[in-house]
Amino acid sequence: MRTPMMAGNWKMNCDLDEAAALAQGVVEGVGSVEGVAVVLAPPFTALDRVASVIAGSNVRLSAQNVYWQAKGAYTGEISVGMLKSCGCAYVIVGHSERRGRFGVPEPDMTDELIRVFGDTDAAVNTKARAALAGGLTPIICVGETLAEREAGLTDAIVRDQVVAALEGMTPEQIGAVVLAYEPVWAIGTGETCEADEANRVIGVIRAAIDSVAGAGAAQDITVLYGGSVKPKSVRELVSQPEIDGGLVGGASLEADSFNELVAVTREVRG
Ligand code: 13P
Repeated sequence: MRTPMMAGNWKMNCDLDEAAALAQGVVEGVGSVEGVAVVLAPPFTALDRVASVIAGSNVRLSAQNVYWQAKGAYTGEISVGMLKSCGCAYVIVGHSERRGRFGVPEPDMTDELIRVFGDTDAAVNTKARAALAGGLTPIICVGETLAEREAGLTDAIVRDQVVAALEGMTPEQIGAVVLAYEPVWAIGTGETCEADEANRVIGVIRAAIDSVAGAGAAQDITVLYGGSVKPKSVRELVSQPEIDGGLVGGASLEADSFNELVAVTREVRG
């Protein structure tokens, strides 16, 4: 049995008061929902405040990134222990907005424009392992760019990213991760991947998990879809057998729309 999940990735949005108000709206709407894991991922600066707002509810806290070292001279970075001390249970790693080449993007780099922080597959793996070792659940993101899809590389890219992300983990650790299929071309574009295609690619992800952790390992692992999940598209997505929920950007920035995503997921999958 897999736990369905609806996770709101607020990205670089919300000052403290906005974050508290948004979290309050989620708690009031779906804070006592059972059968669906409801997760909020505010920016680092709002974690502590959101933790206070969701205390006592069923809503859980995630960070959007982490560094693998415990402490030291790593200016600008945040450790697993720091996230735990803010009340985090989850951390997103390998989001496409953090992968890819490092540097200031050129205006014509449409795919690269949102892949500017330089996280390699090895970095994603190291972050995910550090999260697990420290008691956080990593939500590991994978997905192809538009150019990769058009070149017919979707399955190979996604498979390679999954295998690299899980490298060196024990089967028990792999059993504890959450994965998210986020096709880069569907993020923030309003263009949702067709539900049956997202379902198919998540099948590829499950096959990749099984290839690393043994046949049947993937059947207990929560795998989300992310990329323009909206109230109008969520029902078809979460009705697919392989899709256990969503990792949501834009539609998580309004409590009403996020709560609707949770409610539909609860109705279909809970
Ligand atoms: P959107 O829902 O805004 O497309 O963002 C998806 C995403 O990147 C979630 O991590």
